[in-house]
Amino acid sequence: CRMFPYAPFCVFWLFDGGKYYMKIDNVSYRSVWVDTDDGWSVHIFDQTRLPWSLDILRLTGRDQVAHAIRTMQVRGAPLIGAVAAYGLALALRHDSSDAAMERDAALLAATRPTAVNLGWAIRRMLTRLRTTAVADRAAAAYDEAGRICDEDVIQNEAIGRQGLELIVEIAARRPGPVNIMTHCNAGWIATVDWGTALAPIYMAHDRGIDVHVWVDETRPRNQGASLTAWELGRHGVKHTVIADNAGGHLMQHGQVDMVIVGTDRVTRTGDVANKIGTYLKALAAYDNGVPFWVALPSTTIDWTISDGVKEIPIEERSGREVTHIQGRDQAGHVTSVQLVPDGSAAANPAFDVTPARLVTGLITERGRCPATADGLCDLFPEYV
Ligand code: MRU
Repeated sequence: CRMFPYAPFCVFWLFDGGKYYMKIDNVSYRSVWVDTDDGWSVHIFDQTRLPWSLDILRLTGRDQVAHAIRTMQVRGAPLIGAVAAYGLALALRHDSSDAAMERDAALLAATRPTAVNLGWAIRRMLTRLRTTAVADRAAAAYDEAGRICDEDVIQNEAIGRQGLELIVEIAARRPGPVNIMTHCNAGWIATVDWGTALAPIYMAHDRGIDVHVWVDETRPRNQGASLTAWELGRHGVKHTVIADNAGGHLMQHGQVDMVIVGTDRVTRTGDVANKIGTYLKALAAYDNGVPFWVALPSTTIDWTISDGVKEIPIEERSGREVTHIQGRDQAGHVTSVQLVPDGSAAANPAFDVTPARLVTGLITERGRCPATADGLCDLFPEYV
């Protein structure tokens, strides 16, 4: 195990019956886990340090969890929901009164505005905890957070199988690699395990299908270049990092068979919010007849809204993420350098909305469907 101080946990996960899919140096991990020694602190990978260093953070309280989500030490819609759920469990260890629980839940739910999984996870926790005796709440919260994690893994694995069929179809049509473009990071470190957009790709690779992934760098925070490339490389999947602006050109020249992206919120009518730049990829895909698929667990659907452009709150992050870029210098130090002249203003909307009409289809744990109200209702009739 590379993280020597964590060797006991690594060994535990390694022998955990293959329950965990993703591996780093042959050790299986999830993206969030409870300490096996004390049974209550919560562990995550610090994603602001990847790909340069694999640091595990031990979170022991609500404020640490809120900080980890805001600063994107953890990120990705399903993962921030799961980690926030554990954040509530940590908070309840200190004060499990009604007032404290409602306050802490509201604080955690407000850490990032766009991904609906965050509010979903907190609401689900409260639904269980409001009817739990105060003395039993902390234990019940850990249990519920664990269930959220387990269900996320099951859903993502099912998404992988659904998306795999699409890749198999393309591979059967002609020889050579299936070229898939993705934007941002919707891999296993954005979820509890497997990922959403990357799950079908991992499954295809594991079945011996020749897949190659065009990885959008995903400015300004470069989740593609830093995280998706790291994940794919660790798993042995062929990939090429491209500047965000290269996608349209590659599609025009027949070098993209399909696009698969993840999402932070899907409306009941199939509009898709995802990392800034996704909309431009969808436009280019539409213009070039390239299938544009969106992979999501049902926890990412916001059944209360129908107009994504008007109703999905778009996070506005610090302009510094645009004016500066982080990387590693020749001496191996992680450093941040300024890209723009002193005094230039910068705007940083973190997500955009792709209208449903540009989406070929949605890949969910229950199957694939058109990005329409009817399509979603057919798969999830209980929400109608
Ligand atoms: O700002 P981020 O890095 O949290 O944005 C993440 C994305 O946009 C992902 O594509 C989305 O959350 C889906 S993750 C399975």
